[in-house]
Amino acid sequence: MHERLYEFSAAKTGAWRVVSMASVIGESLPGASALDIQPASIDAAKSGATWSLRGIRSNERYVEAAERADLAKVQAELGRSDATSACLIPIRKSQAWWALAQDERRAIMEEKSHHIAIGARYLPAVARRLYHSRDLLEPFDFLTWFEFAPEHTSAFDDLLARMRDTLEWRYVDREVEIRVEQAG
Ligand code: HEM
Repeated sequence: MHERLYEFSAAKTGAWRVVSMASVIGESLPGASALDIQPASIDAAKSGATWSLRGIRSNERYVEAAERADLAKVQAELGRSDATSACLIPIRKSQAWWALAQDERRAIMEEKSHHIAIGARYLPAVARRLYHSRDLLEPFDFLTWFEFAPEHTSAFDDLLARMRDTLEWRYVDREVEIRVEQAG
């Protein structure tokens, strides 16, 4: 087990019940009724899962110090008792994205797409966590996870619509949206 490596595994039962699954772009994932999130081991995927995706909590790449300080003032932790709705969005970006230099990617993400500025407006209602998967040779480059209270579902829908309307998202070539709610 590694404290930064996590596995999202889909199965018949789990801590989160799947409410809906849909491909936004590219191939979807096999249907599943529940989702679990657990620390993972580097060499073994959870056995018996319908599918499992691994990601690692990594260092930040793009956020600037002032942005990070502003986010830290308002962002919420995962695991709030009223945040019983959640969403897993695995995302892959295109070869064209990965061929860019770091400064070009940052410019598309923030100066042209305002990813961080848009996202900040939805804090603290939406709590988020980013996992990196690309360098684990996984099918997606990122696993993004969001938790919110059910009354903030429409705000979350609005956030997704705004993100997907950006220049950055033209470089997304696979994205699956998996909505879940706390089981039991
Ligand atoms: C809840 C509000 C949000 C905030 C405050 C936010 C903020 C951020 C920040 C600061 C980063 C850069 C991390 C770094 O420096 O490496 C980032 C990366 C990322 N975010 Fe968001 N985000 C939000 C919502 C979303 C949503 C809704 C999605 C997906 C639908 C998303 C997908 C991603 C992805 C895939 C990355 C990695 C991009 C890359 O490295 O190419 N974010 N986000």
